[in-house]
Amino acid sequence: MSDSAVLLEETLTAFRRRIDAQLERYVDRGPDCPAVLRDAMAHSLLAGGKRLRPSLVMLACEACGGDPETALPAACAIEMVHTYSLIHDDLPAMDDDDLRRGRPTCHVQFGEAEAILAGDALLTLAFEILAREIQPAEVAAACCADLAAAAGAAGMVGGQIADLAAEQQSDAGTVQQLQAIHRRKTGRLISCSLSMGARIAGADDVTAQSLTIYGDCVGLAFQIADDLLDLVGDEARMGKRVSKDADRGKATYPALLGEEASREQAKKLVQEACRAVEPLGERGQRLTALAHFIIERDR
Ligand code: IPE
Ligand code: IPE
Ligand code: MG
Ligand code: MG
Ligand code: MG
Repeated sequence: MSDSAVLLEETLTAFRRRIDAQLERYVDRGPDCPAVLRDAMAHSLLAGGKRLRPSLVMLACEACGGDPETALPAACAIEMVHTYSLIHDDLPAMDDDDLRRGRPTCHVQFGEAEAILAGDALLTLAFEILAREIQPAEVAAACCADLAAAAGAAGMVGGQIADLAAEQQSDAGTVQQLQAIHRRKTGRLISCSLSMGARIAGADDVTAQSLTIYGDCVGLAFQIADDLLDLVGDEARMGKRVSKDADRGKATYPALLGEEASREQAKKLVQEACRAVEPLGERGQRLTALAHFIIERDR
């Protein structure tokens, strides 16, 4: 492992510990929250995902000269939105999956209505945390707007609709269509992680713009890697089912371009991401290492 990969691993382990502890605290909503709802939220949220998005929030904040601890509430908020998107993505009406993060999916364990509501509760809790805990209030409001836009109709939810619509399409579509799906369903939340981190650190416009370009590139690269892992990944390692996309007729990079060209595309995006954070020098080192991890990962 290179020095920067070791440094990244240490940082991510420390961040993950902070994020997991804080998520555990947040998920307890007191006596008015029904026990089954709490359990369903915790089942999916505390199942140990990679915590990529919250780590990006904290890394971006640090890369912009801020204290990553101040970004922790935003980091947890975006992980909640991401987890809600996974719970709903797994529902029978969507991808119909039974395994997630190494556990039965939320609806398999708790029932469909409970899973839908656990997702709703995580989504709303994310905004409560941002609004209450990010300082100053103007930055909190801006983060709420960023996250809502990234997660909403023109962002993740819009991308999910387009992903489902593509299943019904008779041809494989164009690269432009596919890119538009992936940028919305996955890319937007990832680039939002970077922009919230920069915002909380009070980054100048030029630095914030560099991080936005980085986020757009790694966001798309991340979903290309996910498509590839559906083909070649290991179910136990990933904690979710593999070899499902082709059967469902999903629009994916390997289905459209083949495996080799998809890998090339992902690599190019990572190079572009790394170029964007070059001006940050030493401070951008871990972001560079993380961009490489995103396409080299096996889970
Ligand atoms: C899976 O995201 C869903 C996609 C957007 C591809 P992750 O691969 O980040 O899942 P976790 O959070 O580690 O479980
Ligand atoms: C998920 O994409 C995107 C989301 C918004 C959750 P996938 O459907 O490919 O994610 P996995 O493979 O089920 O994790
Ligand atoms: Mg899906
Ligand atoms: Mg899915
Ligand atoms: Mg997938």
